[in-house]
Parts: sequence; C-alpha cells; structure tokens
Amino acid sequence: MNFEEITKLIRERKTTYAYDFSDQKVDKETIEAVVSNALWAPTHKLTQPWRFVVLQGKHQQELGEFMAEYYRRLYSEEDFPNDRYEATKRYAENATLLALIFQPSKRAQLPEWEEVAAISCAVQNMWLSCTALDIGCYWDTAGATMEYGKRIALDEGERFLGIFFMGHLKDEIESGNRRRKPLSKKLSWTKN
Ligand SMILES: Cc1cc2nc3c(=O)[nH]c(=O)nc-3n(C[C@H](O)[C@H](O)[C@H](O)COP(=O)(O)O)c2cc1C
Repeated sequence: MNFEEITKLIRERKTTYAYDFSDQKVDKETIEAVVSNALWAPTHKLTQPWRFVVLQGKHQQELGEFMAEYYRRLYSEEDFPNDRYEATKRYAENATLLALIFQPSKRAQLPEWEEVAAISCAVQNMWLSCTALDIGCYWDTAGATMEYGKRIALDEGERFLGIFFMGHLKDEIESGNRRRKPLSKKLSWTKN
C-alpha cells in the first residue's frame, strides 16, 4: 500500500451509527479478520491488554431496550420524545456488538494510560479494517452503553471499555459534516 492509499483509508474512516446498518449480518469470518488486525496493534512490553467478546442473540434487542429506558429516565419527554424512545429500542437490532475488555498487565506494571493507549490502537486497527471492507462502525462509550456493560462477566482486574458497533451499510446513507482543525494549530516546531 502506498502513501496515497493509506491516507485515503485513514480519511475515509468515520463513525457510522447503527441506524445506518442494513439487516445483512456481518459473518463470523469477517469479524475474525477484523479482530485479527486488532491483535497487531503496538503494545509496550507486548502486553496486549485486551480481549473482545461478541455479544450475540438477546443482546441486540436488550441493549436497545436498555438504552431507550436509560435515556427516558435521563431526559424529559420533550428532549427524548416517544418516537425516539421507540427507535432507540430497535437501535442495535442490525449491529454486530463487540465488547472491548481491557486487561492491564499484572506482570509489566505499566502506567495505565499506556495500556489504554494500546487498546485504542487496537480499536483504530479494527476501525480502519472495517473501512477497507465497507463495514460501518464506531466505538460507543455512552453512559447507557457503559452501564449495560456491567452485565458482561469480567475477570479480576479487567475493565469494560465500551462496545465496538459494526454493520453492513444501508444503500443510502447521509454523509456527515466531518471536519478537523488545521495542521497549523496542531503541529509546531521548537526554535532549535
Ligand atoms: C474513545 C472513543 C469513544 C467514543 N465514544 C462515542 C460515543 O459514546 N458515542 C458516539 O456517538 N461516538 C463516540 N465516539 C466517536 C466519536 O464521536 C467520533 O470519532 C468523532 O466524532 C469523530 O468522527 P469520525 O469518527 O467520523 O471521524 C468515540 C470515539 C472514541 C475514540
């Protein structure tokens, strides 16, 4: 892959919400291929502080219903009207849900931020892989999702870091207004 191709892939990577997923299932081989690329992320001392769990079956319906109830409790009827409540109940019905489980290494004793940085690199690998496969996806760490994650069984020392949503795209989806601050604001040079 040359520089233009990698630049194109990086800039085409974007957040796609589950409302834009079609009912075509992401097959097991594709999920395995995407997660295999996560495993190639860099990690200090090669700790590989992660595992991933596909939330199958009842989870798609239960997560949507959980989100709907969560936001109904949080917001007024005006801010979260009934049609949004009903749509939210079905929000995850077409989504492949990959729980992100953080496993900081006991052996390496690294600062936690390094390990969180590493799992973030792993998520970026999946995000780019999905982009190359024309699969919509995003990392969801919203309040409702984090609360829902409490029902996932964890081993000692592990932490749930959200859900990576994946899904084939509907034919027509609106492209959002994606912007970034200019390089001049984010890159500077020391005087010497
Ligand atoms: C750690 C992390 C957590 C995120 N959590 C959420 C989330 O809970 N809900 C959401 O809508 N987007 C979430 N996002 C996606 C960002 O909102 C999105 O990446 C950002 O708006 C830029 O858009 P883009 O991904 O299309 O470039 C998350 C992204 C990251 C890196």
